[in-house]
Amino acid sequence: MPPRVLVVDKTSSTRDTISELLGDHASEVVWSTREGAFAQLRNALAAGLPFDVVLLDCEPVPTPTLVRDLGSIGGSARVVLVATAGEGIALANRCGAADVVTRPLSTPELVFRVARPSPNLERGDKRRPRKSDVLIGSGSWIKELYDRIAMVAATDVTVAIFGESGTGKELVARTIHNSSPRHDAPFVVVNCAAIPEALLEDELFGHVRGAFTDATRDREGLLAAAHTGTLFLDEIGELPMALQAKLLRVLQSQEFRRIGDDTDRRVDVRIITATNRDLDQLVARGSFRQDLYYRINVFPMHLPPLRERPEDIGLLVHHFVQKYRARLGKVIDAVSPTALARFAAYEFPGNVRELENKIHQAMVIAQGPMIEDADVALPPVTARGGMRVDVARPFREVKQEAIDQFERSYLTELLDLHRGNLAQAARAAGMDRKNLWALVERHGLDRERFKKP
Ligand SMILES: Nc1ncnc2c1ncn2[C@@H]1O[C@H](COP(=O)(O)OP(=O)(O)OP(=O)(O)O)[C@@H](O)[C@H]1O
Ligand SMILES: [Mg+2]
Repeated sequence: MPPRVLVVDKTSSTRDTISELLGDHASEVVWSTREGAFAQLRNALAAGLPFDVVLLDCEPVPTPTLVRDLGSIGGSARVVLVATAGEGIALANRCGAADVVTRPLSTPELVFRVARPSPNLERGDKRRPRKSDVLIGSGSWIKELYDRIAMVAATDVTVAIFGESGTGKELVARTIHNSSPRHDAPFVVVNCAAIPEALLEDELFGHVRGAFTDATRDREGLLAAAHTGTLFLDEIGELPMALQAKLLRVLQSQEFRRIGDDTDRRVDVRIITATNRDLDQLVARGSFRQDLYYRINVFPMHLPPLRERPEDIGLLVHHFVQKYRARLGKVIDAVSPTALARFAAYEFPGNVRELENKIHQAMVIAQGPMIEDADVALPPVTARGGMRVDVARPFREVKQEAIDQFERSYLTELLDLHRGNLAQAARAAGMDRKNLWALVERHGLDRERFKKP
């Protein structure tokens, strides 16, 4: 199949020339300005018809970053420069382009440089996120989350993800990486809590031969392994003080030093951190550097615990049933209403990870085509006071009603107790203030009503 070509130039007339010269050697030639190119590339990828070649005009001289991004954002395209005679290959090398064509343009040169089959057309497919790795949720929080991911993915800004254990911090970090121009480069995970302090520096920064007794040769650290990609520092709150200083340097100047080395090295990495700890508290206690905290907290993202978004449970149950169905080779496709009711009623202190494990367990146990009540290892619902429900009506509807009723009573009592003071109420309820506020709004409760002298 002849390639699909995107011509990126200030004016559209170049497209017409190239289209005419290439003729049948291109299956489509589309024009875009530099400003519009990313949207074009993304849309084409989303439509399943990615561009194979980007022909980029050299005026003004493109930066390596621009060339890299144009080549990666729409899957994987060869970026070929369109230069005026005399510039040529040196320029292409300087900005990292695959090739160059020179003006005046001719059919043979264009066919040779643009339409020949590219040896690495599969490159972009390797790291496409699997379907089971998609972030699931309903309502406004997931929409807001996706908006924020889209906003930050296009940049190199440092992201800090906060949330209880199992709320999806790593999945969010991966999603950011996969939607960023770095998606073809490595995504490297370092769990600061899992690696002993004495080894962590070596793991992260590497060493030179002779740096210590066992150092028989040079070793690149994980930071270097993440070059041009993303480094995900999980449990950042556990990073030892000495390494906090080194990380700060990386964030400030993209420089670091291997153990035992006498020169600095530079890296180009995007850093994403995550923690379930309260970093403010760690700073106050003196175990986390304030200057580092400011540096990593440029773009914070807070993931709410599952108990604050019970409306997601049904979707997640379905999602994980699909995920493990394939893995276990079982033809389970549904969850019985009573089993589902037990999922809906449970608090999930271990959040989405716990829910996923419970579904996995239940599917291993289940014999029939459906997860039954007996397959589920959760506390029975009736043991908690057994609410009367109308089983003649659809489960979804009845459940939503019960949840609404419960939320409304809870919020009324809570706001009454704290005289409408949201901050105080949120603290007492163990909820994020924003989530509480959203819930109060959703139920249309008037805070003024609770303010008493
Ligand atoms: N919104 C979601 N949609 C789909 N799957 C999710 C979602 N949130 C979490 N998961 C899944 O739940 C599991 C736990 O998520 P993840 O490892 O990202 O959590 P975490 O916050 O990093 O947890 P921990 O603090 O325990 O490391 C993963 O298998 C992940 O794919
Ligand atoms: Mg994690």
